[in-house]
Amino acid sequence: MPDNSSSESAVITSALPYANGEIHLGHIASTYLPADIFTRFLRLNGLKAYHICATDDFGTPILIRAEKEKKSPKDYVEYWNRQDKEDFESLGISFDFFYKTSSKENVEFVQYVFKRLFENGHIYDQNVIQFYCTYDDKFLPDRYVIGRCPYCNAENQYSDLCEKCGRVPDQILEPKCAICGRPPVKKESKHYFFRLSSFEEKLKKWLLSNTHLQPDVKNYVINWINEGLHDWDITRDLSWGVPIPLPEAKGKVFYGWFDNHLCYISSLVKLVNDRGGNGKKFWNESEIYHFIGKDIIYHHYLFLPAIRLGINSEYKLPEYIPTRGHLMLQNQKISKSRNWYIGLKDFTSAFNPDYLRFYIASVVSYSQDDLNFDFDAFYERINNELIANIGNFINRALSFTQKSFQGIVPKPSSIDDTTEKELAATVDETGRLLSSNEIDKSLKRILKYSNYMNHYFQTNSPWANKDTSNTTVYVSVNAVRSLAVLLEPFIPFSCEKIWAQLKLGSGGGVHQQGWESAKDIKAIPAGHELGKVEPIFRKIEAKEIEQWKNKLGKPQ
Ligand code: MF3
Ligand code: ZN
Repeated sequence: MPDNSSSESAVITSALPYANGEIHLGHIASTYLPADIFTRFLRLNGLKAYHICATDDFGTPILIRAEKEKKSPKDYVEYWNRQDKEDFESLGISFDFFYKTSSKENVEFVQYVFKRLFENGHIYDQNVIQFYCTYDDKFLPDRYVIGRCPYCNAENQYSDLCEKCGRVPDQILEPKCAICGRPPVKKESKHYFFRLSSFEEKLKKWLLSNTHLQPDVKNYVINWINEGLHDWDITRDLSWGVPIPLPEAKGKVFYGWFDNHLCYISSLVKLVNDRGGNGKKFWNESEIYHFIGKDIIYHHYLFLPAIRLGINSEYKLPEYIPTRGHLMLQNQKISKSRNWYIGLKDFTSAFNPDYLRFYIASVVSYSQDDLNFDFDAFYERINNELIANIGNFINRALSFTQKSFQGIVPKPSSIDDTTEKELAATVDETGRLLSSNEIDKSLKRILKYSNYMNHYFQTNSPWANKDTSNTTVYVSVNAVRSLAVLLEPFIPFSCEKIWAQLKLGSGGGVHQQGWESAKDIKAIPAGHELGKVEPIFRKIEAKEIEQWKNKLGKPQ
């Protein structure tokens, strides 16, 4: 619902996770949580906002892993698709649709797009020399070849990426087949290329005219264009992938980055069509947001838009590509091989998932700066901000009502308009910040309000000032409701508990009443009876934090 937008619907996509491993905290921070908070906010504003995601099922790393585990790639990705879905649910990531790039709908759509690009002259073929294993009788793209890095001499590196020095080797030294270890031979194969180079001017024009993109990202993407774009080889000689729909391309499939992003569109179209709507129309009439981490800027700011331009923008380009930095863990780079990472499921089974949501939301900026997960900071933010500030106010207001008014909201006399103004300002400012994706700042604004209400309650001391206590309690109970509306995008599980304690029913009617209803300090009438009141949060103990720190980096 960004200012000056007239659209009533939005499509929010989160970068598709590869279907080959568990979701960890790093994924969550750069992409899925910011996208979920944003989508929840749009929904509260009455927009039809659909959050779309899927597993990214194709590609050599997946095929290799499946082979190692002696599973068919299909079974392998299906397993991870289910697993990922559960992981995301455990954190309350509320996708409207979580699908897969290997779906029938996506396969058909990818082939359709290829044909259109072909007709439009954006595809050409060329013979290329590829590694080939005569023993396994296979071409060996990307990860199928291991060798010595020509730059840093590290052994056992993939031919498409040296993990030691981070470079992409031009010619890997002493190449070996990753399956059997034998040296491969070189063999010619016909590949298809997408003419990315011919889109330089159009892409530049699009980037310059789009005022919503983050300026720093835009600038260096434009620099890449100025240095010259290269055409992309979109073919792989593999069995696992979307088949290239040309009779002469039998046995060849598309490169994963050709098909994966198209799944944003094919999944949204399916979702809307299945509900009786027109998916294509919905896409083209909505504001489009692609949430990503900074490692896939090139793909989303250049490759993806060029493909859409290449089919005459039949499906429109994104208005927004919210791009964020990586998560560090205790100030170190996350690494699965060094066991320096935290699986999402492990974390959400140990802590209230809202603790993770709250912590990440409070440190995630709308920029490419890396952010850090620090256990001590996590402990402090949760205990001192979420619990001592927000939790304290809510529990104080509600338990006082319980104790002194038998849980029945009293009738106020006159409501001081400074508290009302403070509330209205909070709702407006928080909304403005959330609209512009400033998640950390909007959460700070809510904390400021909660702090204000703690003072309000303390200064008015309803236990001592009998003449004003009705009003103090009335205003405070309603402020609890307002907080629950404002906090719903951030900590939805806890808001559900607040609704129950306020006895407003599941969801608190908030989706009918909407974001603006948070301004209503009279939403809960006098005479309303509360539900069972109890503390919403449990403090984190120092020893829990120590245990987690000790576990990190050690083999499990
Ligand atoms: N699977 C890719 C990655 O993790 C992201 C794909 S996003 C998409 O880097 F748009 F291209 F699908
Ligand atoms: Zn081999």
